[in-house]
Amino acid sequence: MDGIVLLREDHKAVEKLFKEFERAGDDAQERKRKIVDEVIRELTAHAWIEEQVFYPAARKAAPDTKDHVLESVEEHHAVLWMLSELAGLDPADERFDAKMTVLTENVRHHVEEEERDWFPEVRKAMGRKQLVALGERMAEERHNAPEGPLEVPSADA
Ligand SMILES: [Fe+2]
Ligand SMILES: [Fe+2]
Repeated sequence: MDGIVLLREDHKAVEKLFKEFERAGDDAQERKRKIVDEVIRELTAHAWIEEQVFYPAARKAAPDTKDHVLESVEEHHAVLWMLSELAGLDPADERFDAKMTVLTENVRHHVEEEERDWFPEVRKAMGRKQLVALGERMAEERHNAPEGPLEVPSADA
């Protein structure tokens, strides 16, 4: 699969989880815990494959995206720390929903910038064949993704 299509599919899957969370009732704590755990898994793996494979390849193919890539890494940093906090927070805690709302806002902003502001430049610079090869590498790399959000390199930077 084309690497950018793969990343967009991930974005869609996470957006679906955000919507599910938003629809869950105030007292659906068990359900919310499950959704948030899935968000943590999905986003940790997604940030991992972007940082290990896509971002470096994008910078190489389209050097003008450098600032976008650097900003994206900083956004990952904030998101990964929020995920690590959500992992240890009781859904009954009054801060749980608030933290999830801020995480959702951050991720939506980040995804919009990736898809609108700089992925198109990368697509143009790479072309179809290179994008498919990159998609294969990312699908492989997903198996190496860590469980803990803080093990993704940008969390530490
Ligand atoms: Fe990203
Ligand atoms: Fe992304």
